[in-house]
Amino acid sequence: MTATTAIRALRGRLLWFTADPHDAGERAHRFVEDGLLVIESGLVKAAGEAKALLSTLPADAEVVDHRPHLIMPGFIDAHIHMPQTQVVASYGAQLIEWLNKYTFVEEQKLGQQGHAEKLSRFFLDELLASGTTTAAVYCSVHPQSAEAFFTESDRRNTRMIAGKVMMDRNAPEALTDTAESSYRDSKDLIARWHGRGRQLYAITPRFALTSTPEQLAAAGRLAAEHQDCHIQTHINENRAEIAFARELYPQAADYADIYARYGLLGSKSLMGHSIHMLHNEWRAFAEAGAVAVFCPTSNLFLGSGLFDWAHARTLGVKVAVATDIGGGTSYSMLRTMAEAYKVLQLQGQSLPAFAALHAITLGNAAALGLDHLIGSFEPGREADAVVLDTGATRAMAHRLETVRDLAEELFVLVTLGDERNVVATYVMGELASASSFSGGA
Ligand code: GUN
Ligand code: ZN
Repeated sequence: MTATTAIRALRGRLLWFTADPHDAGERAHRFVEDGLLVIESGLVKAAGEAKALLSTLPADAEVVDHRPHLIMPGFIDAHIHMPQTQVVASYGAQLIEWLNKYTFVEEQKLGQQGHAEKLSRFFLDELLASGTTTAAVYCSVHPQSAEAFFTESDRRNTRMIAGKVMMDRNAPEALTDTAESSYRDSKDLIARWHGRGRQLYAITPRFALTSTPEQLAAAGRLAAEHQDCHIQTHINENRAEIAFARELYPQAADYADIYARYGLLGSKSLMGHSIHMLHNEWRAFAEAGAVAVFCPTSNLFLGSGLFDWAHARTLGVKVAVATDIGGGTSYSMLRTMAEAYKVLQLQGQSLPAFAALHAITLGNAAALGLDHLIGSFEPGREADAVVLDTGATRAMAHRLETVRDLAEELFVLVTLGDERNVVATYVMGELASASSFSGGA
């Protein structure tokens, strides 16, 4: 680690959002062609014109010159599974078969000494190399998997939301806890990690299929006792899943009502997938302030279906976007948004580049209720940033020869971009990942 100077500044083309482009149009973003991001003690001190800000810096300030690259707030991934880094690209199955045949097999390995530590290191390396600085993360059923993940994230000072999965049925014996043990283990992890440094806890009942009513009640108790913790789960991803959920909870009016009955549908609830939604379920989400999490690469890979963003927006439902590794196929939030664009195209909906880049920064920060801390370069925010070379590949550099304005350049970035475009990633002003072929500083 480098010795921290009091003030560090990153020079480049700054881009960040102060509002949703869908509501505020051109006024939603700030773009400074020759910009400076001034960082003091890990927080944004100022962001604006380099010419004006350079003269305000003390003599010993360190200026890292990333021109001509783009500098944006670090990307945010609202749903991803740490234990599934070796499940990615498993062939030929839809959700339930995919869980049984591949996912539950790999997740059992986290019971082995050292495996959760190994996967957590790889996972965080990969996220940072992709420009992602915050994620909402599922660990495995083993409490030590969450312990290992938080320990590694805390060491890197990344702002992560994570939780031990709660699952007490319809899974191999080695992957099940009980209502009582999952309550106790989650509670211990909350006491140890929630609010320690930048770490945050998410109460994580996997989904209705793998929890008994007793366990969902235990999760609901945790949620009531820890109202500042997130809740993360899966819903309405796959038709067979929905049929099984309705069979297991016949009293519930619909799938969303299963979670609502146990106090698990609220403004901190991150509802993975939310594809095959009934009107009443959308309404329940809107009333509760629950977040529908759109996972495009996963929804395509597992053949799950097309997320209806326009419908969510019409009803005022908050939407976040996510990779869902290992159902998803890329760690890159840029690649994720390229697939989101295609999913929306299939439904006659649009996704301009500014909206896509808003979604993976301020949009996700707001959906997670963390926009006062991350997601933009407003003064006082935590200085997580990604430096992007929009012409990193031959095909992109070639295509950029013909773009006429920023919106077109950014659309090329969103459509063709991935981790190869990430020159550097900063976590609270400290370099956390750098590309080996970086032309940066
Ligand atoms: N539903 C329950 N568990 C999972 C999971 O691990 N991945 C996906 N895509 N859906 C799920
Ligand atoms: Zn998932």
